[in-house]
Amino acid sequence: MHSDELPQGDEKSAAVEHMFDQIAPRYDLVNRLMTFRMDVGWRRRTVKALDLPAGSTVLDLACGTGDFCNDLLRYGLDPIGLDFSAGMLEAAKTDAPLIRADALRLPIPSNSVDGVTCGFALRNFTNLDEFFAEISRVLKPGGRIGLLDVAQPSNPLLRLGHSFYFGKVVPKIGALMSDRNAYKYLPKSVQYLPETQQLLSGLRSVGFSDVNRVLLSGGITQLFLGSLLD
Ligand SMILES: C[S@@+](CC[C@H](N)C(=O)[O-])C[C@H]1O[C@@H](n2cnc3c(N)ncnc32)[C@H](O)[C@@H]1O
Repeated sequence: MHSDELPQGDEKSAAVEHMFDQIAPRYDLVNRLMTFRMDVGWRRRTVKALDLPAGSTVLDLACGTGDFCNDLLRYGLDPIGLDFSAGMLEAAKTDAPLIRADALRLPIPSNSVDGVTCGFALRNFTNLDEFFAEISRVLKPGGRIGLLDVAQPSNPLLRLGHSFYFGKVVPKIGALMSDRNAYKYLPKSVQYLPETQQLLSGLRSVGFSDVNRVLLSGGITQLFLGSLLD
């Protein structure tokens, strides 16, 4: 992917798939380094916040290398991972069943799962309304969601530091250890994320209630929680 362009539609989808295929072998290592392992805590916090009983089926969308699936297994849940990047799925280290598919067209029956998680992929989807409609379709009434993505801190000082780190340091770490263009794209991809209110109302409009946004680690990550109306 060329770093100065932000493609849309099918072009974006193909570029994102190709990019993750390229960076898959070193994805976990770079992720741990650039977040100082905070990503591990963010996912565990999400799984706890789902508050689902053991044995519940949870679909982890855009599962990548299976980190969320492993945390879901750790908490006694039954995860199914789904991602469209063959490279990420090949690099996955998890005992959870994995499906290669597009998160906007889920090969999953309606009204069949108890929870949905999604880590750091909202900004990669080409249409969030379609994504929200799909997760609402596959969840059972009362089903829970935990969707994580990056955020920009509101505190001006933190925002400055974060934008320097995310915009300048992360691309250098990525270039040294993995793929220069992919990690240049990463900070730019934040522009794809709609405003918070739009995300919250998008979730409400497909039937989620008690939708809320929790800021993590000083606001560098955001977690959207909610339950599908009974
Ligand atoms: C930043 S990675 C996150 C991986 C994992 N969820 C995590 O927390 O580390 C984004 C993932 O989203 C996947 N992805 C992006 N768009 C997708 C789509 N439309 N359908 C399925 N997977 C998608 C990519 O292949 C990639 O594995």
